[in-house]
Amino acid sequence: MNIEEIRKDFPILKRKINGKQLIYFDNSATTQKPVQVINAIKNFYETYNANIHRGIHTLSQEASEMYEDAHKKVADFIGANDMQEIIFVRNTTEAINLVMYSYAMENLEKGDEILTTIMEHHSNLVPWQYVEQKKGIKLKIADIKDDGTLDLDQFKQMINEKTKIIAITHISNVLGTINDIKKIRKMKKDAILLVDGAQSVPHMLVNVKKMNCDFLIFSAHKMLGPTGIGVLYGKKELLEKMKPFLYGGDMISKVEQHKSTFAILPWKFEAGTSNIVGGIGLATAIDYLNKIGMQNVRDHEKELVKYFLEKLEDRNTIIYGPKDPEIKGGCISFNIKGFNYHDIASLLDKSGIAIRSGHHCAQPLLKRLGTTGTCRASFYIYNTKEEIDKFFDILNKIRG
Ligand SMILES: Cc1ncc(COP(=O)(O)O)c(C=O)c1O
Repeated sequence: MNIEEIRKDFPILKRKINGKQLIYFDNSATTQKPVQVINAIKNFYETYNANIHRGIHTLSQEASEMYEDAHKKVADFIGANDMQEIIFVRNTTEAINLVMYSYAMENLEKGDEILTTIMEHHSNLVPWQYVEQKKGIKLKIADIKDDGTLDLDQFKQMINEKTKIIAITHISNVLGTINDIKKIRKMKKDAILLVDGAQSVPHMLVNVKKMNCDFLIFSAHKMLGPTGIGVLYGKKELLEKMKPFLYGGDMISKVEQHKSTFAILPWKFEAGTSNIVGGIGLATAIDYLNKIGMQNVRDHEKELVKYFLEKLEDRNTIIYGPKDPEIKGGCISFNIKGFNYHDIASLLDKSGIAIRSGHHCAQPLLKRLGTTGTCRASFYIYNTKEEIDKFFDILNKIRG
């Protein structure tokens, strides 16, 4: 991996913030975009902008082909059988809501159980709370151990014959913990297994067949792609049985005055004019990542995490989550004793360094950790050890 060459593809990295070179360590929130993705979006609007699936004319056919190809590219990227298993939605949050409305609300009965964990993003918790309130199901929330890894013994004990859905994040966006999905699948083979891949798919090789999950969900904007486009992978036989999520144009096969039949997958779940350019942007981002190789992405982040953690260790610093890079993704949460997390982020911003501070949309987890927020540094392919050195030049001055 040639980081200097990669950095040249990201125009925003040349920006100065408060007179200092930007150091962007907020990649868990969203990533920056390479010129290849920016140009693919520009090229769409400049040369073949048209609506898909309806037109006979050349532009519409070109746009349709590119949009369909984007589904195929995503399918290959995560090891799905084919594009029928790939639904484009707005983001991770919408994909989980799709499963919640079209699967959970339709199939679960009073007394059934959904099992999730305390380390979930609100996106993978609040929808299940709705099912609990509306359907009288039981929402069970498995705890973590003090090292920030999932308490697998407790998790196993919480599974029983009533467990109908297991909804779990692959990588925690606060702790960085990588959950062992294969192990979890072995604990319960006949429940629906939904994996929130928002923090894993962009950063490591993820294969739906190897994990044997029923749903895998992620957002393009966290993997070099544009905002407004996300992915729901679902096993075909499951998606086929599920009712549509949104009704109207584009998702139909035949419409009569009082009844309709629906389109084949994936279009049954893509009602209305799609985010065509978003899909094409995502496909370009996947091309970019494939060229680097996902194993290289992961190895690079592991190295940065190791380097960062060595420097972070200090008696006035609280580090949350595992410290072993083998079981940690590229994000690190911490607090400095005696300082508010927002103040740290704001002081770093004065030196051009972007980190995230606050609850990271995981309030129950933060409560479990005994705080209301943390500072979070998160890395991607364009980050370097030199940037980490500059970060610690500032942080060490702050923490003394
Ligand atoms: C683990 C995880 N799940 C879900 C989400 C929500 O993603 P989006 O805002 O793209 O819907 C995030 C975003 O930070 C996340 O980190």
